[in-house]
Amino acid sequence: MLQLAELFSLAGKSAVVTGGAKGIGQAIAMRFAEAGARVLITDIDEPAVRGTAEAIRASGHSCEAMTADAANPDHGQEVVRQASERFGRLDILVNNAGIFPFTPALQITPEQWDRVLNTNLRGPFFFSQAAAKAMIAAGHPGRIINIASIDALHPTGALAHYDASKGGLVMLTKALALELAPFGILVNAIAPGGIATPGAAAAAQHFAQLAGGSEHAAASFLARLPLKRMGDPDEIARVALFLASSAADYITGELIVVDGGYLLS
Ligand SMILES: NC(=O)c1ccc[n+]([C@@H]2O[C@H](COP(=O)([O-])OP(=O)(O)OC[C@H]3O[C@@H](n4cnc5c(N)ncnc54)[C@H](O)[C@@H]3O)[C@@H](O)[C@H]2O)c1
Repeated sequence: MLQLAELFSLAGKSAVVTGGAKGIGQAIAMRFAEAGARVLITDIDEPAVRGTAEAIRASGHSCEAMTADAANPDHGQEVVRQASERFGRLDILVNNAGIFPFTPALQITPEQWDRVLNTNLRGPFFFSQAAAKAMIAAGHPGRIINIASIDALHPTGALAHYDASKGGLVMLTKALALELAPFGILVNAIAPGGIATPGAAAAAQHFAQLAGGSEHAAASFLARLPLKRMGDPDEIARVALFLASSAADYITGELIVVDGGYLLS
């Protein structure tokens, strides 16, 4: 039987975290590196992704950076190739990069729709496909973790494209879990609620502008939260670590909601 420390160790494993420069992705990269994984973070923000990797290395852990667009299937293949080359193997892919541009449904353009769906759903499929092919070719099992949202279960308003993408990501998680189980690849998802990140702060401001500059929307979100506070990115990272670890060896196709009780209210 594994000891408790071994259960949550990622020693000897390698991981890719998309959108790892900031917010939830950064927190996941930090926890994975602390747990002993060799981590490659990818992002479209080149200075930020390099800065985060340097900060993680400065704390004594392993982390490398790469500029890549999570919406681009070719980048998915290159990221997986780089991870396999740099680390000798790829064990864990976290599809974290995502965008949430508040826009009323009646104003969403085909270009905006495609940008959100390509980043949040199409890209994660092709990154997962590339990672799964590499894991299968290497002949060892692996993990894919998709960062969905409570919006996959309950619409926020002015996010029809986002809600559709995250709903799709949850079903993609289940579909891939079923097809990849014979290869020992486990696929799970996390549905964060309101998490205090740079992206969430910018989105809240945008949402307030849409609501006529009022702070009402953010205040009513907080009022509805049973725990009465936004989540910390590390509170998602801890669950990602659980799903990546041996503690979750018998879990696949699942969605774990981490929302401070928001969906209860
Ligand atoms: N923060 C929340 O409240 C919340 C709630 C539910 C779900 N989520 C999900 O969590 C994930 C991370 O959100 P966050 O709040 O940390 O966002 P964030 O905006 O703070 O950070 C996202 C990171 O992803 C990068 N990124 C954006 N588009 C990219 C692309 N095409 N390719 C590569 N990198 C890209 C950004 O540069 C940034 O570094 C997203 O999928 C989001 O939908 C967040």
